[in-house]
Amino acid sequence: MSLVRQGDRSRPRPRTHDLDAVVVGAGGAGLYAALELKRDLGPEARIGVISKLYPTRSHTGAAQGGVCAALGNTEEDNWEWHWFDTVKGGDYLVDQDAAEVMCHDAVETVINLEHLGLPFNRTPEGLIDQRRFGGHTRNFGEGPVRRACYAADRTGHHILQTLYEQCIRHDVLFYDEYQVLDLAMPAGADGRVNGVIALQLSSGEVHSFRAKAVLFATGGFGKIFKVTSNAHTLTGDGVAIAYRRGLPLEDMEFFQFHPTGMYKLGFLLSEAMRGEGGFLVNGKGERFMERYAPTMKDLASRDVVSRSIYQEIAAGRGIDGKDFVHLDVRHLGAKVLNEKLPDMSGFIRTYFGIEPLTDLVPIQPTAHYAMGGIPTDIDGRVLADESGRLVPGFFAAGECACVSVHGANRLGTNSLLDILVFGRRAGIAMAEEVRRAHTPEPDTAAEASVTAALDELLARTEGERPAVIREELQETMFTKCGVYRSSALLMQAWGEVDDLRVRAQQLVVQDKGKRYNTDLGEALELLFLLDCAEALVASAVARTESRGAHAREDYPDRDDVNWLKHTFAFRWSDGAPPRLAYRPATITRFEPKPRTY
Ligand code: FUM
Repeated sequence: MSLVRQGDRSRPRPRTHDLDAVVVGAGGAGLYAALELKRDLGPEARIGVISKLYPTRSHTGAAQGGVCAALGNTEEDNWEWHWFDTVKGGDYLVDQDAAEVMCHDAVETVINLEHLGLPFNRTPEGLIDQRRFGGHTRNFGEGPVRRACYAADRTGHHILQTLYEQCIRHDVLFYDEYQVLDLAMPAGADGRVNGVIALQLSSGEVHSFRAKAVLFATGGFGKIFKVTSNAHTLTGDGVAIAYRRGLPLEDMEFFQFHPTGMYKLGFLLSEAMRGEGGFLVNGKGERFMERYAPTMKDLASRDVVSRSIYQEIAAGRGIDGKDFVHLDVRHLGAKVLNEKLPDMSGFIRTYFGIEPLTDLVPIQPTAHYAMGGIPTDIDGRVLADESGRLVPGFFAAGECACVSVHGANRLGTNSLLDILVFGRRAGIAMAEEVRRAHTPEPDTAAEASVTAALDELLARTEGERPAVIREELQETMFTKCGVYRSSALLMQAWGEVDDLRVRAQQLVVQDKGKRYNTDLGEALELLFLLDCAEALVASAVARTESRGAHAREDYPDRDDVNWLKHTFAFRWSDGAPPRLAYRPATITRFEPKPRTY
């Protein structure tokens, strides 16, 4: 079921809000964009941030280990080494011009954050402290370097609080607890985006937000998987809305599995635990990463470590022959665990009931991060197709976007960097757009369609329950579209996702109330998840190579001759498979090489 459909035009028009710019999503990317918009356009500018949550509950707050910048505060470092690590980490699918901007700007960005009030950990000399992280190397791959700037293991939490505080200080307007359901793209406006249509969760009313520039910073879609580090809210809303509107989704086949999720729960145990000296051991007590990555060992890139864990388990060397291995942090001592990794230590104590100072911690790879999403240029402008044509008025940043700086596998701590660098750049570009654009026309067709689709969903009295379909989807995606893939598994997954999409046309919402109807919310989010899953599976089936997080048992090698290119998946028409197109990856400095750690 799509929410874009013909509506009942006799209904009253939704309540309308006229703004200069609208930001959807109150994580780091959205807040930084909003802040830049206000700074640039001045106090009179009406800049609105819409979030389905209370802003400080956004998922940026769950980011733990650090933000990447080659400050060189604790040992020699260089932003070009960071650039190389980002490109190599992404298995050479990274657009190197975009990654150059990100890694170069990282240093200034982190210092700006410090000036905005972020309480980073300090070296004895009072500088921002830095720790090791996966894939961060000195001198183009020679060995580990300390590059992750951190605030204990709550770096994202502090970024979110700092930026929210600054937005409040600058009188950004917040529309909390609104679920955005569609883009306003009025007919005859040359594909211009000039607002969004949203459901106010507290009242059940539809609201229309009109603006000269719109940013999606809606986060990822990890909830398509059964075991994930993502919060319940990460349901790909913005990604799916763009896709339904005929816009492409780039590189959806690349989904990162973080090596150290808590066994069965999926909650993240930060790579910082290995950055501070923790290591993985198998059922025989062996430090197996020494075999797979002789130089970087436990700090190889995430795709490499996650695959190594799967290989150990497949060889019968999981713990007691089961599907998990151990993280050993006992030797780190109470000071490091309690002062530098307090949340991680607390999670282990609370959720497993064990003591990290004396016990080994059961872990398994957990679905963590979408490398793909809505394609953008380096200023957050959304691309309409693989030729690079732009969608006027529409911007995206953060995990929902694909710049592409992560290629086929993101480097740890580059996610917080991405939201800051590209959230800020998007805000600056949006300010230019606001100055140029005219007062927007309403998209009455979209307003009516959203209202009618909601009413249709609420009127149905029999059908499928969202939770049942969601569980099946998560099982399918985790078992058939996870760390290792094959043609057979992917084709099964595709068939199953298709069936689930058909069944989801008959979703039934039992709660017929208006206020905080979480049953309705789950149905809407499930529809978003199904769209994301469709684009992911179709893109993965087509890519007949292994690269970064896309590891195919039937095509084990990277194929630069045929596949050094980005996938663009378009919703074709309801019921038909997505149409796929391709755009070459941009190589400027680093020629693709075999990847070893
Ligand atoms: O392991 C972590 O702290 C996660 C960081 C990231 O995904 O960048």
